[in-house]
Amino acid sequence: MIKQLTGYEILDSRGRPTVKAKCVLSDGTSASASVPSGASTGKAEALELRDGDKTRFNGLGCRKAVANINDHINPVLAGKEFSRQEELDNVLIALDGTKNKENLGANAILACSLAFARAQALKKGIPLYRYFGEIIGNAVFRLPVPTVNLFSGGKHAGGQVPVQDLLVVPVSADTMGESLEQVHAVYRCASEWIGEKYGMRALKADEGGLAPSFRKMEEMFEDAIKSIENAGLVPGKDVALALDVASSHFYTEGIYDLGKEKKDSAGMIGLLKSWVGAYPILSVEDGLAENDWVFWPDMKRTLQDSCLVLGDDLLCTQVERIRKAVDMDAANALLLKVNQCGSLTEAAAAYRLARQAGWQVTVSARSGETEDDWLADLAIGWGGNQIKIGSLAQSDRTAKYNRMLELEQEDHLPLRKWIYPAGFR
Ligand code: PGA
Ligand code: ZN
Repeated sequence: MIKQLTGYEILDSRGRPTVKAKCVLSDGTSASASVPSGASTGKAEALELRDGDKTRFNGLGCRKAVANINDHINPVLAGKEFSRQEELDNVLIALDGTKNKENLGANAILACSLAFARAQALKKGIPLYRYFGEIIGNAVFRLPVPTVNLFSGGKHAGGQVPVQDLLVVPVSADTMGESLEQVHAVYRCASEWIGEKYGMRALKADEGGLAPSFRKMEEMFEDAIKSIENAGLVPGKDVALALDVASSHFYTEGIYDLGKEKKDSAGMIGLLKSWVGAYPILSVEDGLAENDWVFWPDMKRTLQDSCLVLGDDLLCTQVERIRKAVDMDAANALLLKVNQCGSLTEAAAAYRLARQAGWQVTVSARSGETEDDWLADLAIGWGGNQIKIGSLAQSDRTAKYNRMLELEQEDHLPLRKWIYPAGFR
């Protein structure tokens, strides 16, 4: 039985407020969890409730969301017994009563959903990933393939290049430990190479990616390839690339503004095709904008033999949008961010739907994270193919990598292998 839910305002990795909740059960079990926050957000995301009071944190305070936990959620849930996650989440969803959680805030609701999950796992005496596995009916636990930010632009940096993130994917490593060793070697070589080439230490973006002042996209790719080679690894064979184009953020009225170049949707697909043809790119996220639906099926057909066509802003971890994308054959992979929908139960429904469609799933952090590591357990528990956390930098990122390293050593969880598409060259 829930004895008490308490909300707190804490700070995320950008120093902005976010929400933490503590769930105490009647047997004394106590657990807490924190929610992350995005910067390059999709328009269809559930509402992250902010105070709007410009005198505190420039309006980003979370006191209203915290008060919603203490004054509205706790009085309803305290003293109630929930045997399943879904039962609790459904009460929270009904209590809010809106489609995008604008009454209580997705940040308030998700913090409670996660804190309850952690308390249940503790009470049952099982690791959190096993509890998450129970939610989805999965009992096969593997570590997801890490996709790790190397270079950043767009909204996560100073907009040096419009594309938000270039990630590296260790594909030949057999363990998480080995994967991260390789990624670290690439990151270190990239830092050295960038220092030499640009005559300065590269600034780091929100997720720890290096953000030198690339003059054009091709330079970003070439520098990544060189860094992999300098690390003594073979591009595409040992370490491949992935992109988060995050193109919604440089798209207006049919035009993608790439700085020097402007492209219409067909032109953008052509550009992505040329990149995927020239470099070992295994995944392209948000290659087109969130409201450019009609061109997504073209993009999918064009890229699907080489890489994942991954939807983030397009799908916003929401069942209706995923269903639409499946019906239109617009993508073949889901980027899953739990706070885009605001509860574990809704995220689980999104996950199931993507899996039923035969899609792959990348479980993702947000650019504003906390030291909480539940995301690692979620990716393992649900059987996500990949995990996207950020660079091997900052404790908000390494907390999740460290959780996976711990589970690799403690529970001997094996590492997944990258699944290449049927026609992969
Ligand atoms: P966000 O970005 O957390 O800032 O929204 C992450 C992403 O676009 O994948
Ligand atoms: Zn994205």
